[in-house]
Amino acid sequence: MIAIASDHAGYALKDELVKYLAEKNIPCEDLGTCDGTTSVDYNDFGVLVAEAVAKGTHERGIIVCGTGIGISISANKVPGIRAALCTDSYMAKMSREHNDANVLALGARVIGAGEAIDIVETWLSASFLGGRHQRRVDKFTDIEKKYSV
Ligand code: RB5
Repeated sequence: MIAIASDHAGYALKDELVKYLAEKNIPCEDLGTCDGTTSVDYNDFGVLVAEAVAKGTHERGIIVCGTGIGISISANKVPGIRAALCTDSYMAKMSREHNDANVLALGARVIGAGEAIDIVETWLSASFLGGRHQRRVDKFTDIEKKYSV
């Protein structure tokens, strides 16, 4: 199950992605925002998805704001989250294969819906390669532990 959320700036693209996932029969839960006209803080929606993935209630997450920057920074504050902001399919593939990204961040003011769908498709079909990459992914956890109180 994929958790998806956006702020107001990402709302229209999120809507497109929810429709795309439904068409492909990919289970997805929309955690908001529920309208694109009311200004909301991207942090709140990034954390909602990040917590769902960190807790394991959802396997992966997709988050959208204007640039993808604020919402990905927010998600990455949650331990266990590896949110990757991707602007093309190559980044999406690498974020899975090398970084084992569990959350995909997109910028609705940066890329169009067609590109976003290509990125999502690539990201969902790519797998973590493990091997030497595992050691580096483990170091994300080491960094989290170093700064946890
Ligand atoms: C909202 O105006 C905008 O700041 C937000 O969507 C995002 O781009 C922040 O990183």
